[in-house]
Amino acid sequence: MNIRQATADDLLAMQNCNIMNLPENYQMKYYFYHLLSWPQLSFVAEDHKGRIVGYVLAKMEEDREDEPPHGHITSLSVMRTYRRLGIAEKLMTQAQKNMVEVFNAQYVSLHVRKSNRAALHLYKDTLKFSIHEVEKKYYADGEDAYAMRKDLPQIN
Ligand code: ACO
Repeated sequence: MNIRQATADDLLAMQNCNIMNLPENYQMKYYFYHLLSWPQLSFVAEDHKGRIVGYVLAKMEEDREDEPPHGHITSLSVMRTYRRLGIAEKLMTQAQKNMVEVFNAQYVSLHVRKSNRAALHLYKDTLKFSIHEVEKKYYADGEDAYAMRKDLPQIN
């Protein structure tokens, strides 16, 4: 298994992986926007044949000038047969590291469905995120989201 920074050539496979694994899907231009703006923050996992089996799509939040720079995980997924191998943890760790080193991020945020036990385990127990707030009816089907955050270690 190889974890590496995503390139434009990976975007269709990332979109495919997203469609297979999550109900929150995005137009191709949104993937390009991430890669063109923050190329250091999105990563893929590829198998021995070079097939994309997982990705993390991440960005910096820029909308609020009164807040410190912080990263955001837009989407993370791993193909079913490749789960429980530590791939998601590795993808997240790489994205978080570059948020700090390249963009001086102070913390990282994400949204996750209240019912998503596997992802909650990954974020809370493995990666040490905490719940910042509940966003009611965040998802299109009316489910609430946990808005989660994690402070990132500073390098200077
Ligand atoms: N139940 C309980 N714990 C789990 C589960 C599960 N089904 N899956 C993973 N975990 C735990 C692992 O045990 C591991 O814990 P450990 O460090 O104590 O061993 C930890 O989570 C990390 O596991 P990984 O192997 O790194 O996770 P994996 O590669 O299997 O990917 C993911 C986890 C991304 C949640 C995967 O199940 C998936 O793709 N699910 C569908 C898509 C999804 O829900 N994505 C997240 C949406 S939120 C967002 O995108 C911001």
